[in-house]
Amino acid sequence: MKVILVAGARPNFMKIAPLMTAFGKRPRVTSILVHTGQHYDRAMSELFFQELGIPAPDVNLGVGSSTHAVQTAEIMRAFEPVVTAETPDAVIVVGDVNSTVACGLVAVKLGITLVHVEAGLRSFDRTMPEEINRVVCDAISDILLCSEPSGVENLRREGVPDRKIRFVGNVMIDTLLRNRDLAERSTILDTLDLSGEQPYAVVTLHRPSNVDDPGILESIMTVLDYIGRDIPVVFPVHPRTRLRLNDRGNSASSRSSLKLIEPLGYLDFLKLMAHAQIVMTDSGGIQEETTILGTPCLTLRENTERPVTVEMGTNRVVGSDPARILAACRAVMAKTASLRSGGKGNRCIPPLWDGRAAERIADIVLSHGRKKHYEQEHETGGVT
Ligand code: UD1
Repeated sequence: MKVILVAGARPNFMKIAPLMTAFGKRPRVTSILVHTGQHYDRAMSELFFQELGIPAPDVNLGVGSSTHAVQTAEIMRAFEPVVTAETPDAVIVVGDVNSTVACGLVAVKLGITLVHVEAGLRSFDRTMPEEINRVVCDAISDILLCSEPSGVENLRREGVPDRKIRFVGNVMIDTLLRNRDLAERSTILDTLDLSGEQPYAVVTLHRPSNVDDPGILESIMTVLDYIGRDIPVVFPVHPRTRLRLNDRGNSASSRSSLKLIEPLGYLDFLKLMAHAQIVMTDSGGIQEETTILGTPCLTLRENTERPVTVEMGTNRVVGSDPARILAACRAVMAKTASLRSGGKGNRCIPPLWDGRAAERIADIVLSHGRKKHYEQEHETGGVT
């Protein structure tokens, strides 16, 4: 059996790592890794391959940045000849980035089985580019693999037949659990002058809804600056956000109470999140990672497509209103200060976030492939 796995942007890499390992362990399976090149900076791509031990991509489409239409179209144009030449039994895409939907479209139009890992998540906010990618990719996928129960419910509501849906758990958490001890050896806290028991906050922001509107970005930066007067606020800045801050004459970058740093690698960032008093983010994956780490998370968006993180009690969706962010941040800091002597309190772990999601996925994909081969043989009188 031959499978093509697709990765394109930073949050894909930690999902692809355990899948490459799981498929690599299975005999008689050839797995081909295609990197679309959607993310290309060393700190956004290569570093993750090194740290997570992901083999070098077999093919790099080198597509790079552009508008949504051009980026999606270029990925499709470059991916189609790869699929045509390789004729895989399945194409596996992860998450909700432009690379996910672009490669998914190419696969199904060539009649190849499409597997979507992280299917069914819905923010119900069609202004998010990722929501469009999720809805489209799920509508065309043959095997829809869900990371949390809401994904299964959403797909059923949309009329996807049960035989296509499987609840497998979270591959991003496979990677977290596998790397947690290694991350503890990171010296990032010393580098940032945060050693010891000193509480600190971590921030990430990159959603167009937060960073593309100068007024919204300014008001968020102002409240972060305010919080930064109480505790250190470490903010690894995504390239998209860096561009927007630079567009604004860099006034935000000079705010003295914020530690604006370059994007971090996986292990440094994992350690930073694990020891933080609070994380404020608009990322999807970070809402999940903080759930496992037991670190309180404020989601600076109006919604989340990952409701299980809220149900588990670590995540709160607070939007981008500065007064709400400040009030929620102060409430978390007061609560965690009282908990500090006893650690992070009792933690709830979402079902099947157990480090074995990629193994389940490999088993499902292979058994689907075997069934398909059997059916094809049967149709041709058992002759292969
Ligand atoms: C993409 C995903 C988003 C994901 C995020 C994680 C889509 C629609 N969005 O958003 O879902 O949460 O990745 O990071 O797929 N840039 C660089 N270097 C890079 C990559 C990007 O400088 O390696 C800059 C470019 O100026 C580019 C901008 O960042 O135009 C945005 O990159 P892009 O891939 O279009 O979207 P992200 O905002 O990164």
